[in-house]
Amino acid sequence: MQTQSLKKLGLALTLLLLLLAISEVQAKKWRKYHKIHMRRHKGHSALGTLKLNNTRVQGNVNNLMITESQATTTASTPTTVLPTANLTNFYNNVYTVVLEFGSSGQPLTVLLDTGSANLAVTSSQCQTQLCLQRSSYNSAKSKTYKQNGTAIQIDYVDGTLKGFVSRDTVELDGLKVKNQDFAEVTSLPAAFSRLNGIDGILGMGFIDIAIDGAVPLFYNLLSQNLIDTPVFSVYLNRNASDPNNGGQLLLGGSDPILYKGCITYVPISNTGYWQIPVARFSLGTTTLFTKFEAIVDIGTSLICVPSNAIGTINQKLEIEALDAKDGVYIVPCSKVSSLSDITVNIGRKDFTLKPSDYILNYNGTCISAFTNCNGLQGLSNLWVFGDAFIAPFYLEFDFEYKRIGIAPKL
Ligand SMILES: *[C@@H]1O[C@H](CO)[C@@H](O)[C@H](O)[C@H]1NC(C)=O
Ligand SMILES: *[C@@H]1O[C@H](CO)[C@@H](O)[C@H](O)[C@H]1NC(C)=O
Ligand SMILES: *[C@@H]1O[C@H](CO)[C@@H](O)[C@H](O)[C@H]1NC(C)=O
Ligand SMILES: *[C@@H]1O[C@H](CO)[C@@H](O)[C@H](O)[C@H]1NC(C)=O
Ligand SMILES: *[C@@H]1O[C@H](CO)[C@@H](O)[C@H](O)[C@H]1NC(C)=O
Repeated sequence: MQTQSLKKLGLALTLLLLLLAISEVQAKKWRKYHKIHMRRHKGHSALGTLKLNNTRVQGNVNNLMITESQATTTASTPTTVLPTANLTNFYNNVYTVVLEFGSSGQPLTVLLDTGSANLAVTSSQCQTQLCLQRSSYNSAKSKTYKQNGTAIQIDYVDGTLKGFVSRDTVELDGLKVKNQDFAEVTSLPAAFSRLNGIDGILGMGFIDIAIDGAVPLFYNLLSQNLIDTPVFSVYLNRNASDPNNGGQLLLGGSDPILYKGCITYVPISNTGYWQIPVARFSLGTTTLFTKFEAIVDIGTSLICVPSNAIGTINQKLEIEALDAKDGVYIVPCSKVSSLSDITVNIGRKDFTLKPSDYILNYNGTCISAFTNCNGLQGLSNLWVFGDAFIAPFYLEFDFEYKRIGIAPKL
């Protein structure tokens, strides 16, 4: 299944980087979790979002003008603030959010992941060292728990996540979703030994890729009328010294004060992942690739490119094969200032990645964000735009119109 292949990728890359980072930043103790500050419960839809339904396109091809109808103009006046969850940034590799489970509100830190659609958290029934070193969900402490027990399994490169389905109330940013199905994990992949402080995964993909058909949290937020619009948007911060200021997850729309100019929308090419067509990829003035597909995955740390592309990129960046360490390429930090911008054309608009965006600095060790997707069955021609790609932009994920909106962030 593609889901499993992609998840392999997401976690594998995350872990490679954590190996690098943690050895250098180990001394630092991150706050394990923080309570999400609730800005308000129910927001108004479409802050700054151009609603297709209310939009008329006028003029001919040479003089295209989009006018917003009265209805949209009114709706886009921000009268209320959308529910906003603060993200925690783990070393610029992983972004997490805190969910509260059950009647007593058990707080669990989950990795935000747009490349999957299941919610999974460590179970208190798991007594392995890996499970015991993190917080877990305890159904015995919840009055709203409902048993299900169906076995669930997700495969990763470094092992398998196994558990069973349970149902309970799950709260995100003060929004209480009732009867949420999730995996209570009784066996974590060994890979989790590098993910201290992370208790599970929150999949924000389409239900099509949800294992066991479990209804994703976002779908329940919507069906239980806790949000009005089937849209969420994400702003990622890149200051690893400031983990508690990792960015924001907005539910039900986007916030125009967080991006510059207009949002460019591109229809997704496949329901399941957030997969989009990319028209062009250039380094400086040289176009290196045209017309490819990319999955936008917050659960992946780096930018994953097919094997035939990594050689080209490394050659242009003057990176040699022997600069590789655990599949990532090390670059002398002194070289960063001489590198060119990368331009990616999406939805007929150019988006720029600066060298400081695509070369990551881990406390003095610089690595290229570009790595290879080897080992991904069925996904070999796909690119994966992970956090290194996402971070310079404000992204809106729209389930209704099946599109991604992208704008330079402020
Ligand atoms: C970064 O490296 C320096 C020197 O190697 C070290 O003193 C410092 O503690 C490191 N910073 C972090 C956050 O680990
Ligand atoms: C969440 O982030 C906002 C904006 O950075 C901040 O004002 C607020 O205090 C944060 N809430 C918590 C609980 O950290
Ligand atoms: C579009 O607008 C029409 C007329 O205002 C309305 O009946 C219809 O439900 C709208 N569709 C959507 C998807 O919002
Ligand atoms: C258990 O959970 C799965 C996944 O959400 C669901 O498809 C199934 O119907 C549930 N079974 C029972 C007995 O509740
Ligand atoms: C990163 O966060 C640290 C700690 O809050 C702060 O001192 C520093 O100024 C921040 N750096 C940038 C570039 O904002």
